[in-house]
Amino acid sequence: MSILFTPFKLKDVTLRNRIAVAPMCQYSAVDGFTNDWHAVHYAGMARGGAGLVMVEATAVSPEGRITPGCTGLWCDEQIEGMAKIAASIKAAGAVPGLQIAHAGRKASANKPWEGDDHIPAGDPRAWEPIAPSAIAFGDMLPRVPRAMTLEDIARVKAAFVATAKRALAAGFEWLELHFAHGYLAQSFFSPHSNLRTDEYGGSAEGRGRFLLETLAAVRAVWPENLPLDARFGMIEYDDRDEETVAESVELAKKFRDGGLDFLNVSLNFVIPNTKIPWATPAFLAPVAERARKETGLPVASGWRFDDPHVAEKTIATGQVDLVMIAKAHLANPHYPIEMAAALKVERPAWLLPAQYAHWLARYGR
Ligand SMILES: Cc1cc2nc3c(=O)[nH]c(=O)nc-3n(C[C@H](O)[C@H](O)[C@H](O)COP(=O)(O)O)c2cc1C
Repeated sequence: MSILFTPFKLKDVTLRNRIAVAPMCQYSAVDGFTNDWHAVHYAGMARGGAGLVMVEATAVSPEGRITPGCTGLWCDEQIEGMAKIAASIKAAGAVPGLQIAHAGRKASANKPWEGDDHIPAGDPRAWEPIAPSAIAFGDMLPRVPRAMTLEDIARVKAAFVATAKRALAAGFEWLELHFAHGYLAQSFFSPHSNLRTDEYGGSAEGRGRFLLETLAAVRAVWPENLPLDARFGMIEYDDRDEETVAESVELAKKFRDGGLDFLNVSLNFVIPNTKIPWATPAFLAPVAERARKETGLPVASGWRFDDPHVAEKTIATGQVDLVMIAKAHLANPHYPIEMAAALKVERPAWLLPAQYAHWLARYGR
Protein backbone atom coordinates (compact mmCIF):
# COMPACT_ATOMS: atom_id res chain seq x y z
CA MET A 1 0.00 0.00 0.00
CA SER A 2 1.45 3.35 -1.04
CA ILE A 3 0.73 6.45 1.02
CA LEU A 4 1.81 8.67 -1.90
CA PHE A 5 -1.32 7.58 -3.73
CA THR A 6 -3.75 8.19 -0.89
CA PRO A 7 -5.93 11.33 -0.93
CA PHE A 8 -5.04 14.41 1.09
CA LYS A 9 -7.78 16.62 2.53
CA LEU A 10 -7.27 20.20 3.67
CA LYS A 11 -10.22 22.44 4.48
CA ASP A 12 -12.87 21.73 1.79
CA VAL A 13 -10.33 20.55 -0.76
CA THR A 14 -9.35 16.93 -1.39
CA LEU A 15 -6.34 16.04 -3.53
CA ARG A 16 -6.52 12.64 -5.24
CA ASN A 17 -2.94 11.89 -4.17
CA ARG A 18 0.06 13.49 -2.44
CA ILE A 19 1.82 14.62 -5.62
CA ALA A 20 1.85 18.32 -6.51
CA VAL A 21 3.17 19.88 -9.68
CA ALA A 22 5.52 22.51 -8.28
CA PRO A 23 5.06 26.04 -9.58
CA MET A 24 7.15 26.59 -12.70
CA CYS A 25 7.38 29.91 -14.53
CA GLN A 26 6.82 29.48 -18.24
CA TYR A 27 8.18 32.93 -19.15
CA SER A 28 5.66 32.93 -21.97
CA ALA A 29 3.20 35.67 -21.02
CA VAL A 30 2.94 39.05 -22.70
CA ASP A 31 2.27 42.01 -20.39
CA GLY A 32 1.32 39.45 -17.73
CA PHE A 33 -1.44 37.89 -19.86
CA THR A 34 -1.57 34.11 -20.22
CA ASN A 35 -2.15 32.50 -23.63
CA ASP A 36 -2.69 29.16 -25.33
CA TRP A 37 0.72 27.85 -24.24
CA HIS A 38 -0.25 28.18 -20.58
CA ALA A 39 -3.60 26.52 -21.25
CA VAL A 40 -2.00 23.52 -22.97
CA HIS A 41 0.83 23.22 -20.46
CA TYR A 42 -1.32 23.28 -17.33
CA ALA A 43 -4.06 21.04 -18.73
CA GLY A 44 -1.33 18.54 -19.63
CA MET A 45 0.15 18.67 -16.15
CA ALA A 46 -3.27 18.05 -14.60
CA ARG A 47 -4.07 15.21 -17.01
CA GLY A 48 -0.76 13.67 -15.94
CA GLY A 49 -2.25 12.66 -12.62
CA ALA A 50 -0.96 14.96 -9.86
CA GLY A 51 -3.36 15.92 -7.08
CA LEU A 52 -2.46 19.60 -7.05
CA VAL A 53 -1.25 21.71 -9.95
CA MET A 54 0.31 24.93 -8.73
CA VAL A 55 0.33 27.59 -11.41
CA GLU A 56 3.55 29.57 -11.68
CA ALA A 57 4.68 32.64 -9.71
CA THR A 58 2.16 35.22 -10.84
CA ALA A 59 2.96 38.85 -10.22
CA VAL A 60 0.73 41.02 -8.07
CA SER A 61 1.96 44.15 -9.86
CA PRO A 62 3.85 44.80 -13.12
CA GLU A 63 7.15 45.57 -11.37
CA GLY A 64 6.76 42.33 -9.38
CA ARG A 65 7.45 40.15 -12.45
CA ILE A 66 10.79 38.37 -12.63
CA THR A 67 10.94 38.74 -16.41
CA PRO A 68 8.82 40.41 -19.11
CA GLY A 69 7.41 36.89 -19.79
CA CYS A 70 6.02 36.30 -16.30
CA THR A 71 2.29 35.98 -15.70
CA GLY A 72 0.36 38.59 -13.76
CA LEU A 73 -3.00 39.01 -12.13
CA TRP A 74 -2.78 42.70 -11.32
CA CYS A 75 -5.85 43.71 -13.33
CA ASP A 76 -9.31 42.28 -13.91
CA GLU A 77 -8.64 41.72 -17.63
CA GLN A 78 -6.11 39.03 -16.66
CA ILE A 79 -8.78 36.95 -14.90
CA GLU A 80 -10.24 35.39 -18.06
CA GLY A 81 -7.06 33.62 -19.14
CA MET A 82 -6.39 32.38 -15.63
CA ALA A 83 -9.99 31.14 -15.35
CA LYS A 84 -9.48 28.95 -18.43
CA ILE A 85 -6.36 27.47 -16.87
CA ALA A 86 -8.08 26.79 -13.53
CA ALA A 87 -11.06 25.19 -15.30
CA SER A 88 -8.88 22.92 -17.43
CA ILE A 89 -6.93 21.74 -14.38
CA LYS A 90 -10.22 20.90 -12.65
CA ALA A 91 -11.59 19.14 -15.71
CA ALA A 92 -8.60 16.80 -15.58
CA GLY A 93 -9.29 15.94 -11.95
CA ALA A 94 -6.60 18.00 -10.18
CA VAL A 95 -7.01 20.93 -7.82
CA PRO A 96 -5.96 24.28 -9.32
CA GLY A 97 -3.56 26.30 -7.16
CA LEU A 98 -2.00 29.66 -7.84
CA GLN A 99 1.25 31.05 -6.48
CA ILE A 100 1.17 34.85 -6.16
CA ALA A 101 4.41 36.73 -6.00
CA HIS A 102 6.50 39.86 -6.10
CA ALA A 103 10.06 39.43 -7.38
CA GLY A 104 11.58 42.39 -5.46
CA ARG A 105 15.20 43.05 -6.41
CA LYS A 106 15.30 39.97 -8.69
CA ALA A 107 12.76 41.64 -11.00
CA SER A 108 13.46 43.01 -14.47
CA ALA A 109 15.54 40.05 -15.62
CA ASN A 110 15.89 38.35 -18.98
CA LYS A 111 14.15 35.02 -19.53
CA PRO A 112 16.40 32.08 -18.53
CA TRP A 113 17.02 31.09 -22.13
CA GLU A 114 17.85 34.69 -23.02
CA GLY A 115 20.51 35.16 -20.37
CA ASP A 116 18.80 34.96 -16.96
CA ASP A 117 20.58 38.19 -15.99
CA HIS A 118 19.25 41.65 -15.22
CA ILE A 119 18.06 43.61 -18.24
CA PRO A 120 20.40 46.63 -18.21
CA ALA A 121 18.88 49.80 -16.76
CA GLY A 122 17.92 52.09 -19.61
CA ASP A 123 16.90 49.21 -21.91
CA PRO A 124 13.29 49.89 -22.94
CA ARG A 125 12.29 46.43 -21.61
CA ALA A 126 13.71 47.13 -18.12
CA TRP A 127 11.99 48.57 -15.07
CA GLU A 128 13.16 49.65 -11.64
CA PRO A 129 13.27 46.82 -9.08
CA ILE A 130 12.19 47.61 -5.51
CA ALA A 131 13.28 45.91 -2.29
CA PRO A 132 13.46 46.47 1.47
CA SER A 133 16.93 48.01 1.13
CA ALA A 134 19.05 49.32 -1.75
CA ILE A 135 21.28 46.23 -1.88
CA ALA A 136 21.87 44.26 -5.08
CA PHE A 137 21.67 40.44 -5.13
CA GLY A 138 24.96 40.33 -7.04
CA ASP A 139 26.23 37.81 -9.58
CA MET A 140 23.85 37.77 -12.56
CA LEU A 141 21.48 40.23 -10.89
CA PRO A 142 23.62 43.29 -10.17
CA ARG A 143 20.98 46.04 -10.32
CA VAL A 144 20.67 48.02 -7.11
CA PRO A 145 16.96 48.18 -6.24
CA ARG A 146 15.19 51.23 -4.88
CA ALA A 147 14.52 50.92 -1.14
CA MET A 148 10.77 50.79 -0.59
CA THR A 149 8.97 53.61 1.17
CA LEU A 150 6.15 52.88 3.61
CA GLU A 151 3.76 53.83 0.78
CA ASP A 152 5.38 51.19 -1.46
CA ILE A 153 4.94 48.60 1.29
CA ALA A 154 1.26 49.46 1.70
CA ARG A 155 0.74 49.38 -2.08
CA VAL A 156 2.36 45.96 -2.53
CA LYS A 157 0.36 44.47 0.36
CA ALA A 158 -2.83 45.83 -1.21
CA ALA A 159 -1.73 44.32 -4.54
CA PHE A 160 -1.41 40.88 -2.90
CA VAL A 161 -4.96 41.27 -1.57
CA ALA A 162 -6.43 42.38 -4.90
CA THR A 163 -4.63 39.52 -6.67
CA ALA A 164 -5.97 36.99 -4.16
CA LYS A 165 -9.51 38.18 -4.89
CA ARG A 166 -8.90 37.81 -8.62
CA ALA A 167 -7.48 34.32 -8.06
CA LEU A 168 -10.71 33.35 -6.35
CA ALA A 169 -12.77 34.90 -9.15
CA ALA A 170 -10.70 32.87 -11.64
CA GLY A 171 -11.65 29.62 -9.86
CA PHE A 172 -8.46 28.73 -8.03
CA GLU A 173 -9.05 26.62 -4.94
CA TRP A 174 -5.61 26.78 -3.31
CA LEU A 175 -3.58 29.96 -2.92
CA GLU A 176 0.15 30.06 -2.29
CA LEU A 177 2.03 33.18 -1.17
CA HIS A 178 5.55 33.25 -2.56
CA PHE A 179 7.66 33.93 0.51
CA ALA A 180 10.76 32.13 -0.81
CA HIS A 181 13.68 32.17 -3.23
CA GLY A 182 15.03 35.64 -2.49
CA TYR A 183 12.05 37.45 -3.94
CA LEU A 184 10.45 40.40 -2.19
CA ALA A 185 8.98 38.74 0.91
CA GLN A 186 12.01 36.52 1.51
CA SER A 187 14.30 39.54 1.15
CA PHE A 188 12.35 41.34 3.85
CA PHE A 189 12.95 38.47 6.27
CA SER A 190 16.66 37.96 5.59
CA PRO A 191 19.19 40.14 7.42
CA HIS A 192 21.39 39.79 4.31
CA SER A 193 18.97 41.89 2.26
CA ASN A 194 17.05 43.93 4.84
CA LEU A 195 19.01 46.68 6.57
CA ARG A 196 15.99 48.86 7.32
CA THR A 197 15.94 50.84 10.52
CA ASP A 198 12.15 51.29 10.64
CA GLU A 199 9.54 48.82 11.91
CA TYR A 200 10.04 46.58 8.83
CA GLY A 201 13.68 45.79 9.64
CA GLY A 202 16.06 45.06 12.48
CA SER A 203 14.98 42.16 14.70
CA ALA A 204 13.41 38.96 13.35
CA GLU A 205 10.09 40.48 14.43
CA GLY A 206 10.65 43.59 12.32
CA ARG A 207 11.96 41.64 9.34
CA GLY A 208 8.96 39.31 9.52
CA ARG A 209 6.41 42.13 9.67
CA PHE A 210 5.88 42.49 5.90
CA LEU A 211 5.23 38.75 5.56
CA LEU A 212 2.83 38.58 8.51
CA GLU A 213 0.91 41.67 7.45
CA THR A 214 0.62 40.40 3.88
CA LEU A 215 -0.63 37.04 5.13
CA ALA A 216 -3.20 38.67 7.45
CA ALA A 217 -4.49 40.94 4.70
CA VAL A 218 -4.81 38.06 2.22
CA ARG A 219 -6.40 35.74 4.78
CA ALA A 220 -9.09 38.36 5.35
CA VAL A 221 -10.24 38.02 1.72
CA TRP A 222 -9.37 34.39 0.91
CA PRO A 223 -12.26 32.08 1.97
CA GLU A 224 -11.80 30.19 5.22
CA ASN A 225 -12.84 26.92 3.57
CA LEU A 226 -10.03 27.02 0.99
CA PRO A 227 -6.34 26.37 1.71
CA LEU A 228 -3.97 29.31 2.06
CA ASP A 229 -0.33 28.30 1.95
CA ALA A 230 3.07 29.96 1.87
CA ARG A 231 6.14 28.73 0.05
CA PHE A 232 8.69 29.86 2.56
CA GLY A 233 12.47 29.66 2.27
CA MET A 234 13.66 28.40 5.65
CA ILE A 235 17.35 27.78 5.02
CA GLU A 236 20.07 29.57 3.06
CA TYR A 237 22.91 27.02 3.34
CA ASP A 238 25.43 29.57 4.55
CA ASP A 239 27.20 29.93 7.89
CA ARG A 240 24.09 31.33 9.60
CA ASP A 241 21.81 28.31 9.12
CA GLU A 242 21.14 27.45 12.74
CA GLU A 243 19.81 30.94 13.39
CA THR A 244 17.99 31.13 10.04
CA VAL A 245 16.12 27.87 10.56
CA ALA A 246 15.21 28.73 14.16
CA GLU A 247 13.97 32.22 13.19
CA SER A 248 12.07 30.77 10.23
CA VAL A 249 10.33 28.15 12.37
CA GLU A 250 9.30 30.87 14.83
CA LEU A 251 7.90 32.98 12.01
CA ALA A 252 6.09 29.95 10.59
CA LYS A 253 4.36 29.51 13.98
CA LYS A 254 3.16 33.10 13.66
CA PHE A 255 1.94 32.31 10.13
CA ARG A 256 -0.06 29.44 11.62
CA ASP A 257 -1.51 31.74 14.28
CA GLY A 258 -2.30 34.25 11.54
CA GLY A 259 -4.42 31.73 9.63
CA LEU A 260 -1.98 29.91 7.36
CA ASP A 261 -3.21 26.39 6.56
CA PHE A 262 -0.15 24.80 5.00
CA LEU A 263 3.57 25.41 4.67
CA ASN A 264 5.64 24.66 1.58
CA VAL A 265 9.22 24.51 2.84
CA SER A 266 11.82 25.79 0.42
CA LEU A 267 15.13 27.61 0.00
CA ASN A 268 16.11 31.21 0.68
CA PHE A 269 18.26 32.04 -2.38
CA VAL A 270 18.92 35.48 -0.85
CA ILE A 271 22.67 35.39 -1.46
CA PRO A 272 24.57 33.83 -4.35
CA ASN A 273 27.16 31.06 -4.03
CA THR A 274 25.78 29.15 -1.06
CA LYS A 275 26.47 25.48 -0.27
CA ILE A 276 23.18 23.87 -1.21
CA PRO A 277 23.59 20.05 -1.09
CA TRP A 278 22.20 19.47 -4.57
CA ALA A 279 23.52 15.90 -4.72
CA THR A 280 21.35 14.71 -1.83
CA PRO A 281 17.80 13.61 -2.72
CA ALA A 282 15.13 15.38 -0.63
CA PHE A 283 17.80 17.43 1.16
CA LEU A 284 15.16 19.74 2.61
CA ALA A 285 13.26 16.90 4.30
CA PRO A 286 14.86 17.42 7.75
CA VAL A 287 13.98 21.14 7.72
CA ALA A 288 10.46 20.33 6.55
CA GLU A 289 10.10 17.70 9.27
CA ARG A 290 11.19 20.17 11.94
CA ALA A 291 8.79 22.82 10.65
CA ARG A 292 5.98 20.25 10.55
CA LYS A 293 6.63 19.07 14.10
CA GLU A 294 7.12 22.52 15.64
CA THR A 295 4.28 24.32 13.88
CA GLY A 296 1.82 21.44 13.70
CA LEU A 297 1.02 22.56 10.14
CA PRO A 298 0.85 20.11 7.26
CA VAL A 299 3.83 20.69 4.97
CA ALA A 300 5.14 20.08 1.50
CA SER A 301 8.64 20.36 0.23
CA GLY A 302 10.34 20.27 -3.12
CA TRP A 303 13.79 20.00 -4.72
CA ARG A 304 14.77 16.44 -5.60
CA PHE A 305 11.73 14.69 -4.09
CA ASP A 306 10.99 13.08 -7.46
CA ASP A 307 12.42 9.60 -6.86
CA PRO A 308 9.22 7.59 -6.19
CA HIS A 309 10.74 5.71 -3.25
CA VAL A 310 12.10 8.93 -1.73
CA ALA A 311 8.72 10.60 -2.15
CA GLU A 312 6.94 7.64 -0.57
CA LYS A 313 9.38 7.42 2.33
CA THR A 314 9.37 11.12 3.23
CA ILE A 315 5.58 11.01 3.49
CA ALA A 316 5.42 7.62 5.23
CA THR A 317 7.91 8.75 7.89
CA GLY A 318 6.01 11.96 8.60
CA GLN A 319 8.57 14.38 7.19
CA VAL A 320 6.13 15.89 4.68
CA ASP A 321 2.48 15.55 3.72
CA LEU A 322 2.88 16.34 0.02
CA VAL A 323 5.79 16.30 -2.40
CA MET A 324 6.27 19.13 -4.90
CA ILE A 325 7.69 17.78 -8.14
CA ALA A 326 8.88 20.10 -10.88
CA LYS A 327 11.36 19.05 -13.59
CA ALA A 328 10.28 15.40 -13.73
CA HIS A 329 6.89 16.71 -14.86
CA LEU A 330 8.55 18.64 -17.68
CA ALA A 331 10.30 15.47 -18.82
CA ASN A 332 7.06 13.51 -18.61
CA PRO A 333 3.76 15.23 -17.73
CA HIS A 334 2.42 11.75 -16.86
CA TYR A 335 5.18 11.29 -14.30
CA PRO A 336 2.71 10.18 -11.58
CA ILE A 337 2.00 7.09 -13.73
CA GLU A 338 5.73 6.34 -13.71
CA MET A 339 5.77 6.79 -9.94
CA ALA A 340 2.78 4.47 -9.52
CA ALA A 341 4.51 1.79 -11.60
CA ALA A 342 7.74 2.10 -9.61
CA LEU A 343 5.81 1.71 -6.35
CA LYS A 344 3.84 -1.21 -7.84
CA VAL A 345 0.58 0.65 -7.39
CA GLU A 346 -2.07 -0.56 -9.77
CA ARG A 347 -2.88 2.16 -12.29
CA PRO A 348 -5.36 4.09 -10.18
CA ALA A 349 -8.80 4.92 -11.51
CA TRP A 350 -8.01 8.63 -11.56
CA LEU A 351 -5.29 8.01 -14.11
CA LEU A 352 -7.78 6.24 -16.31
CA PRO A 353 -10.90 8.31 -16.91
CA ALA A 354 -13.91 6.55 -18.46
CA GLN A 355 -13.19 8.24 -21.79
CA TYR A 356 -10.00 6.15 -22.00
CA ALA A 357 -10.76 3.16 -19.75
CA HIS A 358 -13.45 1.74 -22.01
CA TRP A 359 -11.12 1.42 -24.98
CA LEU A 360 -8.12 0.21 -23.08
CA ALA A 361 -10.17 -2.57 -21.43
CA ARG A 362 -11.82 -3.50 -24.71
CA TYR A 363 -8.56 -3.76 -26.60
CA GLY A 364 -6.52 -5.13 -23.70
CA ARG A 365 -4.02 -2.29 -23.39
C1 LIG B 1 11.26 26.09 -15.24
C2 LIG B 1 11.16 26.29 -13.77
C3 LIG B 1 10.40 27.34 -13.27
C4 LIG B 1 10.25 27.52 -11.89
N1 LIG B 1 9.40 28.50 -11.42
C5 LIG B 1 9.10 28.56 -10.12
C6 LIG B 1 8.05 29.39 -9.65
O1 LIG B 1 7.34 30.03 -10.42
N2 LIG B 1 7.84 29.43 -8.31
C7 LIG B 1 8.56 28.68 -7.44
O2 LIG B 1 8.31 28.77 -6.23
N3 LIG B 1 9.52 27.84 -7.86
C8 LIG B 1 9.79 27.74 -9.17
N4 LIG B 1 10.71 26.82 -9.61
C9 LIG B 1 11.28 25.85 -8.66
C10 LIG B 1 10.44 24.58 -8.67
O3 LIG B 1 9.14 24.83 -8.17
C11 LIG B 1 11.09 23.45 -7.86
O4 LIG B 1 11.18 23.82 -6.51
C12 LIG B 1 12.47 23.07 -8.35
O5 LIG B 1 12.47 22.88 -9.75
C13 LIG B 1 12.99 21.81 -7.68
O6 LIG B 1 12.11 20.74 -7.87
P1 LIG B 1 12.54 19.47 -8.78
O7 LIG B 1 13.81 18.94 -8.15
O8 LIG B 1 11.40 18.52 -8.66
O9 LIG B 1 12.74 20.00 -10.17
C14 LIG B 1 10.90 26.64 -10.98
C15 LIG B 1 11.68 25.61 -11.50
C16 LIG B 1 11.79 25.41 -12.87
C17 LIG B 1 12.61 24.25 -13.37
